[in-house]
Amino acid sequence: MRGQLLKSLFSLLITFFCLGTMLTSVLWYMFDDNNVEPHQPSYKKSIPVPTNLCKGCREVIVKVQKRYSKTWKKQEDNYQKFRSQLNSKCHGFDKAIISQANTPVGSKLVYDGEKKRTLQVTPELFSTFAKERPFPNKTWDTCAVVGNGGILTNSSCGNTIDSAQFVIRCNLPPLKNGFEKHVGIKTDLVTANPSILLAKYGALMGRRHPFVESLRSYGNSLLLLPAFSYGQNTPVCLRAFYTMEDFESPIRTIFLNPEYLQRLDLFWHSQGLRPVRLSTGLIMVSLALELCANVHLYGFWPFSNHPYEFHVLTNHYYDNRPSHANFHAMPAEFDLLLQLHTQGVLKLHLGKCQSGT
Ligand SMILES: *[C@@H]1O[C@H](CO)[C@@H](O)[C@H](O)[C@H]1NC(C)=O
Ligand SMILES: *[C@@H]1O[C@H](CO)[C@@H](O)[C@H](O)[C@H]1NC(C)=O
Repeated sequence: MRGQLLKSLFSLLITFFCLGTMLTSVLWYMFDDNNVEPHQPSYKKSIPVPTNLCKGCREVIVKVQKRYSKTWKKQEDNYQKFRSQLNSKCHGFDKAIISQANTPVGSKLVYDGEKKRTLQVTPELFSTFAKERPFPNKTWDTCAVVGNGGILTNSSCGNTIDSAQFVIRCNLPPLKNGFEKHVGIKTDLVTANPSILLAKYGALMGRRHPFVESLRSYGNSLLLLPAFSYGQNTPVCLRAFYTMEDFESPIRTIFLNPEYLQRLDLFWHSQGLRPVRLSTGLIMVSLALELCANVHLYGFWPFSNHPYEFHVLTNHYYDNRPSHANFHAMPAEFDLLLQLHTQGVLKLHLGKCQSGT
């Protein structure tokens, strides 16, 4: 009698033990980083970081190892909160781009790069503005913002980037000649710094055909110019607009609203950023956060060593020309982006993409 009772008790214990083990493994499986997103490169364990890296690189890479290792998941609350903050402070959705709807004839543009310069909107200038907001009323599901960092070299991220609903690129980056596989080809909006119009296209004072030709790879995207940040850039930006119109290019030229840039500057200032000028990349990320539900960043890594492989990177994926290191606060900007990544507001891609992901 007593032996039987002991036996039943024993088998009950065994059953509990087995159930417990099963439950533990299920939980373990559910919360193991590797099972959620098998293709996302993540630091499972810290890799020893070499000491002979560029100045400041080592500290950032150690930090990235700590923060980037966590499996990324969008945090809807954090995203909504950040987005509504941006929206209420900067109004990018309606005001980021100058349009005939938000900037009537007779209004005064205040240059954001030169505090005392203003420009009254004449009917002629007005006729170069977009009729209305060039974005649909609905937000896009997924946007890719492509920075031009050397980290994109051999990244195989082309397909992933092209699968986004709206793709934003910065400063007329080359896409052909073997880059497609790593950076993609789809372009819905591309920015151009006026300096590139001066350096590469003779300020559009002579032949303009080469400029039109070189923009062919962007299909029928929007060409976004900061026409009213510095007075000296306004004429060349207007020439870019007229060139596209005269050559009947499918590309539509639009202008950044200096009022938006001013507000954005204050916004990021309140987040602790104090650069001389915000980088185009950060401006585009800010805009994307208002326009898209899911914001993915590629090519945003402003350091000269790769964060996983540690080898030396070129400044851009297409050349090694130095960027304006003192003009922009790239490491500080990156730190904020890494914070937003950690909070699940946007997703930074720092590794290679696998085909199909
Ligand atoms: C967006 O909505 C407004 C009013 O709700 C409408 O007048 C406008 O035509 C719409 N624009 C687009 C691009 O759908
Ligand atoms: C990229 O890949 C090509 C071809 O495999 C190779 O020759 C080149 O060295 C690689 N570049 C870098 C920076 O890894």
